[in-house]
Amino acid sequence: MTKPFVIAIDGPSASGKGVTSRRLAQMLGLLTVDTGAMYRTLAWHCLRMKVDVTDDKKVAALCRKWKTSLVVQDGQVRLLVDGYFPEKEIRTAEASAAVAHVAQVRFVRDWMKAKQRECIQFGSCVMEGRDIGSNVFPETDYKFFLDASPEVRKRRRERDGVQEDVHARDKRDSQRAHSPLMPSLGALVIDNSHQVVQETCDLMLEEINARRKANRLVPLKPVA
Ligand code: DC
Repeated sequence: MTKPFVIAIDGPSASGKGVTSRRLAQMLGLLTVDTGAMYRTLAWHCLRMKVDVTDDKKVAALCRKWKTSLVVQDGQVRLLVDGYFPEKEIRTAEASAAVAHVAQVRFVRDWMKAKQRECIQFGSCVMEGRDIGSNVFPETDYKFFLDASPEVRKRRRERDGVQEDVHARDKRDSQRAHSPLMPSLGALVIDNSHQVVQETCDLMLEEINARRKANRLVPLKPVA
């Protein structure tokens, strides 16, 4: 049996990580992990518990005693809060504003890393985030950094009905002290500004199989 592996996909907001991860996972019959959703779930929990998200100590204390569980639902590994996945709640403007604070707390990042590493207990995963290749699974051979021009990313956000200063968010994510956003060593950087999702996935699969061949591993074959 093959040892479970991780395909790490990092990149800034609106770089197409989510849609690309889901398509690639579907093509290869793998699970997906949206690590941004994990941070957002904690941010939502802080708001619900009336914890000031700008107070690092209080956020860390809440995270420390947080009762959660990892489960697989619809091909995705999810973090549940009291058995519930707050799918809609974590996408509100309030949760989006809160998550940037929560995601820079050292204790939270270490806690999330441990949880994210536990995800492979369920099988091989396509894991998307900001620091998967650099920090969470640095040992994986399959690392990608997706990017697109600021104009294209802004347009994508607007199409989703979200007005967001992508430049400000990139700056925050890239300049934080713990696990800042940056392409990790060995990651293939793909600018998908002018690609459709399938093109990006085909390119990624080609790269994965080239790396597998170099390690004398059998190629991955699309199942869908
Ligand atoms: O991808 P997203 O917009 O759902 O991510 C939400 C926030 O969490 C964003 O501010 C970046 C942060 N994040 C992170 O710091 N590390 C990750 N691995 C994933 C997300």
